Amino acid sequence: MGIADLRKEYTRHGLSETDVDPDPLRQFQCWFDQAVAAELIEPNAMTLATATPDGRPSARMVLLKGVDNGGFVFFTNYESRKGVELAANPWAALVFYWPELERQIRIEGRVERITPEESDVYFASRPNGSRIGAWASRQSSVIGSRAELEQRVAELEQFYADRDIPRPTYWGGFRVIPDVIEFWQGRPNRLHDRLRYRRNNSQWIIERLSP
Ligand SMILES: Cc1cc2nc3c(=O)[nH]c(=O)nc-3n(C[C@H](O)[C@H](O)[C@H](O)COP(=O)(O)O)c2cc1C
Repeated sequence: MGIADLRKEYTRHGLSETDVDPDPLRQFQCWFDQAVAAELIEPNAMTLATATPDGRPSARMVLLKGVDNGGFVFFTNYESRKGVELAANPWAALVFYWPELERQIRIEGRVERITPEESDVYFASRPNGSRIGAWASRQSSVIGSRAELEQRVAELEQFYADRDIPRPTYWGGFRVIPDVIEFWQGRPNRLHDRLRYRRNNSQWIIERLSP
């Protein structure tokens, strides 16, 4: 079978204007809770798209670590490719895809760093191995070999053997503050339901988009 012959009908749910919450963050929480209840593998994995100021996009997966203060929080290295792109052009798009539920959520908005104190709290909750990893990796830079990385980890493990591992200042959280969120529910014959929330001042407007 060729790739073009792969074809699936979506039949599980519908999505109607009368069912959804007027607040898209509450609607997100509702769908997220259902994804957790369905025991999906890493329901908090999402694609993060960023772009350079002259418009060259890049995308990668990151993990959602919270929804608070009106936005979606993830953690990373501020000096990584995504970190550098976000510093220069603080706009991003996120995509969740939950195939078992035939659902996709698309989020767009401005990005800000969370406070150092918020990043400290999350960093402190990570296992030691992940904290050492944050120190060992200059994320997105070229390294000579795997051995080089492992050597650096071994040195750090020794150094931090009997002291607390602090958060590197170059590592922390970003929050995507949405101005557009679209909920997509797969339906038969590609006649999918798409409800898009867009922010108009402090109000959310809900519109149905053609599939
Ligand atoms: C499922 C999954 C979850 C990931 N979560 C994160 C994350 O939360 N933070 C992060 O910095 N990288 C995460 N990564 C690694 C990124 O996809 C990426 O390789 C890394 O952040 C470097 O991206 P960049 O060079 O574009 O900055 C994850 C990868 C996968 C496959």
